[in-house]
Amino acid sequence: MAQTKITALLDTLPDEAPDAVADAQDWLERIDPVLEQANQAYHLDDDPILSDQQFDRLKRFAAAIEAKHPDLISPQRVTQQVGASPKAGFAKLKHQQRMMSLGNAFDESDVIEFDASLRRFLNIAVNDTLSYTAEPKIDGLSLSLRFENGALISAATRGDGITGEDVTANARTISDIPQTLSGAPDILEVRGEVYMSHADFQALNARQASSGGKPFANPRNAAAGSLRQLDPTITAARPLRFFAYSWGVLSAPLGQSQTGALARLADLGFSTNPLTATCSSVEDLLDHYATINTARPDLGYDIDGVVYKVDDLSLQERLGFRSTTPRWAIAHKFAAEEAVTKLERIEIQVGRTGALSPVARLTPVTVGGVVVSNATLHNADYIAGRDSTGAPIRDGVDIREGDWVTIYRAGDVIPKVKDVDLARRPKDAHPYEFPTTCPECGSDVVREPGEAVARCTGALICPAQAVEKLKHFVSRAAFDIDGLGAKQVEAFFDMDWVREPADIFTLKANHGPGQMQQLKSLEGWGETSANNLFDAIEDRRTISLARLIFALGIRHVGETSAAMLARHFGTWQAFRTAIEAARDHDGPDWETLNAIDGVGQVMAGALVDFFHEDTARAAMDRLVEHLTIEAAEAPTTDGSAVAGKTVVFTGTLEQMTRAEAKARAEALGAKVAGSVSARTDILVAGPGAGSKLKKAQDLGVDVMSEDDWLALIRT
Ligand code: IVH
Repeated sequence: MAQTKITALLDTLPDEAPDAVADAQDWLERIDPVLEQANQAYHLDDDPILSDQQFDRLKRFAAAIEAKHPDLISPQRVTQQVGASPKAGFAKLKHQQRMMSLGNAFDESDVIEFDASLRRFLNIAVNDTLSYTAEPKIDGLSLSLRFENGALISAATRGDGITGEDVTANARTISDIPQTLSGAPDILEVRGEVYMSHADFQALNARQASSGGKPFANPRNAAAGSLRQLDPTITAARPLRFFAYSWGVLSAPLGQSQTGALARLADLGFSTNPLTATCSSVEDLLDHYATINTARPDLGYDIDGVVYKVDDLSLQERLGFRSTTPRWAIAHKFAAEEAVTKLERIEIQVGRTGALSPVARLTPVTVGGVVVSNATLHNADYIAGRDSTGAPIRDGVDIREGDWVTIYRAGDVIPKVKDVDLARRPKDAHPYEFPTTCPECGSDVVREPGEAVARCTGALICPAQAVEKLKHFVSRAAFDIDGLGAKQVEAFFDMDWVREPADIFTLKANHGPGQMQQLKSLEGWGETSANNLFDAIEDRRTISLARLIFALGIRHVGETSAAMLARHFGTWQAFRTAIEAARDHDGPDWETLNAIDGVGQVMAGALVDFFHEDTARAAMDRLVEHLTIEAAEAPTTDGSAVAGKTVVFTGTLEQMTRAEAKARAEALGAKVAGSVSARTDILVAGPGAGSKLKKAQDLGVDVMSEDDWLALIRT
């Protein structure tokens, strides 16, 4: 094809994909042959007829048309072909300057305290002006763009703040990101947030649905999923946007103030948020917060707070950083989103250790863009309207089936009931009676003194406990058996194939292809998946002692404790003998068990109890018969960002239990403490954090969200 024709085509290419299908089709008919020929020339003839930029532009335009008109997608088109050399993942890119996260303020008093603490730090009197910028906190994912001599040379996600993923090819498909700059410092790292608008998110989910794909939960997930695509043409077909709000390494300053630097970035061609204001007092900050909060529903994209930054860059420099957050900035978060709905009924779930957890089944309602149909009710006291000390919560109002309730969620938290509308309470509603027998097995329910949790006492007969124990047994940190997840465990349990862990290892002999072909005949199982499962089970016949101990699901024995016990005892036999010997609480073996570093009375008691029952011991014997148990190795904490640090967790953790969070922290060499003191290095604060958060802030302890924490330990 003549180059002049291609140039003519490129010259007439519109900025946006046409809305009319006929036009879109027209364009594709013109572009397709060019792309095809160019692709062949490049890959097969090694003699490109288009520059990379020209090729990319055409491909991006075709992808944009496909995004708008999914009916026009053709599997033959270059846009749909996955790159010739599939990559295992993204290359890692080390940030020359660490990417930071932000501390949080949840109410006005936190903001007042933020200002006061900076004044104390900088010794600025109350009457002197300390200026800030206030701008929306975009709910997306952060990206660092590096420009050298005006050309975009790399783009990296935040990752753990130190090393991110190289998403350069994908960033090049985002139209808000300039590829070249004029008049920029020779070295310029621009940082900001990649996000997706509500409209684009809805359109993407509609396309996902029509192509049988899984919808994204929210625009942030959609943006992250789209940016972190190994095939840049997929990223190109999903409209991502970018706001610049910060910077990393610079060869020359961008300005003297945050306001000035942002203006400079805007001049260079970046999108900066139009709701950014310069404020000269805390009152101004709070006013602007209210303005942004009011504008929020109509912005067309998600924001989750307002970020305040000290305006004067020389003051920013003096204030500096804590380990992962700047002292000179804070994110003032919006209150959790709420919705009113009907609580249809209260159900009880029985966990692995027999704990009864009440769950509210709700008439589905949308809260902050997510459909919610369940809310946690914690325990009997919570339902009755009191806390663990007996003090009233919700003004002492109880929760009843049939009630109209206000539920809320902040971030990705499991929704909670905030309030009950007594005016709408049905006349026949009656106080909820917490079961005194287990709804699954009928055993008595007991609540030990001082404990908020009620437990089923039918440990050995309760099917719910047995299933939950099995789920735990095959879970990731335990036996981690591929193809044997919660769903399969439930199905096998219901069919009586797997009632206890040992049955997993006789599954093939009893139900496998060699025998009755039973598994293969089950819905969802074919020859391959059945064989894969049996292979995965075979693989796990050899297991580390630590995993085995953890897999047993002994109360108070998490991953780290299991590893610690494994290291201490070395072999299964030594472990078991010592625990069984410690049965007598007055005897020397009990003392020895208690003296192990990391084993307290509570864990020692739980271990002894676990090995106490004849039935349980027999089940363990049946299990270990199938296993080769490997002795434990000492973990290495080399390279761990948190080794030696003292960490406190407070508030609700959303991605793992407190026990698991603790275990993981300790596995990385951190010490986990229960209360905040001057020796605390990091406070991981989830929603609902209260006095510990306040104390940590007063002490200047590094406070981070669960996400930040996970990013930090994912080194
Ligand atoms: S400033 C050193 N400004 O929020 C300054 N961050 O929770 C670092 N974010 O990691 C960030 N909007 O991904 C800043 N206007 C904004 C922001 C913003 C969103 C994100 C950013 C950061 C996270 C911290």
